[in-house]
Amino acid sequence: MNFKNESISAITELSVKENIASGKAGKYSFKLTAYTPKIIRVQVSKYEVFEEYPFSVVLEPQQPAVKTTENESHLDFNTEHIHAKVQKNPFRLSFYNNSGDLLNADDPSFGVSWLGEEVTNYKALASDEIFLGMGEKGGGLNRRGSSFDNWNSDAFGFNNDTDPLYVSTPFFIGVREGKPYGIFLDNTHKSHFNFGTSNNDRFSYFSAESGDLNYYFIQGDHVNEVITEYTKLTGAMHMPPKWSLGFQQCRYSYYPDHEVYNVADTFREKQIPADVIYLDIHYMKDYMAFTFDNERFPNPKALIDKLTSQGFKVVVILDPGIATKKGYGTYDRGVEKDVFIKYPDGTPFEASVWPGNSHFTDFTSKKGRDWWADELKFYTDLGLEGFWNDMNEPACWGQDIPNMIEFDYDGQEVSHKKARNVYGFQMVRATFEGAKKHIGNKRPFTLTRSGFSGVQRYSAVWTGDNVAGDDHMLLGVRLVNSLGMAGVPVAGYDVGGFVDESSPQLFARWLAVATFAPFFRVHSMVNVRDSEPWAYGEEVEEIARNYINLRYKMMPYLYSLFFKAHQNGTPINKSLAVDYTNDHEIYHGNAQNEFTLGDWLLVCPTTTTQEYAKIYIPEGNWYRFFTDEVVAGGQHYVVETSMEDLPVYAKEGAIIPLQNVVQNTKEVHDGELKLHVYFGHVKSSQNYFEDDGETYAFEDGNYYKRDINFDGEQNSLVLDDKEGAFTSTFKNLKVYLHGFEATEFEINGVAASLQQEDIRLIDPITEFDPLPQRDKKDYLIRGVKFLTTEFIDSEIRIKWS
Ligand code: GLC
Repeated sequence: MNFKNESISAITELSVKENIASGKAGKYSFKLTAYTPKIIRVQVSKYEVFEEYPFSVVLEPQQPAVKTTENESHLDFNTEHIHAKVQKNPFRLSFYNNSGDLLNADDPSFGVSWLGEEVTNYKALASDEIFLGMGEKGGGLNRRGSSFDNWNSDAFGFNNDTDPLYVSTPFFIGVREGKPYGIFLDNTHKSHFNFGTSNNDRFSYFSAESGDLNYYFIQGDHVNEVITEYTKLTGAMHMPPKWSLGFQQCRYSYYPDHEVYNVADTFREKQIPADVIYLDIHYMKDYMAFTFDNERFPNPKALIDKLTSQGFKVVVILDPGIATKKGYGTYDRGVEKDVFIKYPDGTPFEASVWPGNSHFTDFTSKKGRDWWADELKFYTDLGLEGFWNDMNEPACWGQDIPNMIEFDYDGQEVSHKKARNVYGFQMVRATFEGAKKHIGNKRPFTLTRSGFSGVQRYSAVWTGDNVAGDDHMLLGVRLVNSLGMAGVPVAGYDVGGFVDESSPQLFARWLAVATFAPFFRVHSMVNVRDSEPWAYGEEVEEIARNYINLRYKMMPYLYSLFFKAHQNGTPINKSLAVDYTNDHEIYHGNAQNEFTLGDWLLVCPTTTTQEYAKIYIPEGNWYRFFTDEVVAGGQHYVVETSMEDLPVYAKEGAIIPLQNVVQNTKEVHDGELKLHVYFGHVKSSQNYFEDDGETYAFEDGNYYKRDINFDGEQNSLVLDDKEGAFTSTFKNLKVYLHGFEATEFEINGVAASLQQEDIRLIDPITEFDPLPQRDKKDYLIRGVKFLTTEFIDSEIRIKWS
């Protein structure tokens, strides 16, 4: 049989009922569902019954009001925010916002087409259209002119051009004449996205190897809103425990146990803050999941207890392959419960991976997930609350799982072709659910290498096996920024590089950049040099300590950003495309690597092989974070790239809550919330959030929340009344006034006395300097004015003149 492209043609049946328009176009069925006022779901199928994809979308259709009008040529299907035009002959869709601006339209010639089983939607490409997102994908910030595959892969030592990588999120944001929209293709087969590659801009398209065309069209007034709407569909990011925002140290592998004790002691002796130490595969007996090697780790409980008493959490790795060894409890129980994926003839699939011959749990079945969740008790009984899921693309030696292998897929009984992309996602779901079940009301921490849209409900993602190199450091930043635009706010990369070895300069720079990443972990490969913050000499050690200290100082800000991400999907690290979408400078050069932490801190990662680097500062006035030097935005600057001085800027209007340094997140701070406010003739606001940091009590109202509003025209800074039943851990408020000229201040109507202080957000390096000729910088911000007051729960209104 030779397949040729077959495009859908005229509508032959059409009916509209409430929020659904459905019908037939010849042999094809279609259905439009107004899902929310800002989301329309589109389904087109070859078959009578539409295919279901049960894993990503958690939002039920909201049945928004729809207005329809129909004539000979088309049907208008309008929600409050999206006007969809359904052209009848041939069937073509176009989407407008409620002001009548065209956002997205089917390609007039090809629309929805089939090539055998493969379904494709060709879209008209506007001359100025920008494409963002796609999650964990290399390449530039604007995806225009690029194409991508979604097929989760073990991409050891990947580079900027490697595609696919480990995680698939078939969701992009298009921007047409400055107006954004989003498209999420919810089809878990291998899919392909082409943003005008190799067709001289005739069209863009997305396709799936099989199954239905099933996508959600999202309207948002700005990129952030599109991400929020996408997050409503695919679920809120799990609010991880606070300890997972701390510094994390990993290597492949720390063993035997005295190595682990030693690393933990060294952090504390050297006063380098840290919260987590990882156990990679060598902790297990012959790499078998749910075991400890009795010789290397004779008393895991004692190890975990000791580290807990030092303020550390231990996180263990878990791979999906289960060694096929009779007598190995997990394997025997798995066979008994019949949880492994199989060939069509009923024999379990077997391949080789770390533990040798292995079977693979079917995480796409409830039975498989429940079984795994129960097995997890082995760890939780020892006091573990953190789990790292690896090799879950799934990976095995040879990396070519036959497509005939069968998976349950929540009762659908499908092949590897449909199940592969959700395998890792469902593995970490099972891990998360198991941990949650066994650790009471506590929030588990889970980290996964593979995932699919919706994975944020269960886990943080790290970007797999990167390489020690400047280009990798920048690539990692772009991947994390892009994951943020795909609804995965908590992500990070192996600081220092997994494969190969960092130079001291690179390690120092990478660690500085990662200080501002949501997930902050050093990790390195087996048989490479040590990679702890002290392993690169005393100068790097001091730089590392300074930045890790800063990470802990930023904890109130970071934690508030995590909560905002949990509430509405707002990325924690934002590429400049999120807030400065229509500034075309951001799509070139180093600006593509730049990001903000929250709204206020601009981080410009620069390589270590140049002495000077070009950076771009977007609109507004910005204060160099470590010196308060003010620079005007909308311009490029050339900055020096010394090892200790990462270019970081705070925006005018910035409201950044900080605290004193602690050695881990369990250690109690000094009770003073240090609110840094950066003057500008602007209005701004920042959310502030606290809770116990470890349980779900916040879901029952046991949280502390207030908004902080700055108005540079009306001369006010207002901390709204607090909301929630939690008592803040802070007693005093110290407001640092950066760039304020005013001299008269009052707090809640009472004149306040202004004081001055010299402060440092990071320390300069002191004794060690391999380049003595270099001007040493002193990051002393002289004479910063500040006010102090009690951190009361009711409104705190600060005025000045
Ligand atoms: C994989 C992981 C890596 C881990 C190694 C050994 O390569 O990506 O992080 O250290 O396996 O478990």
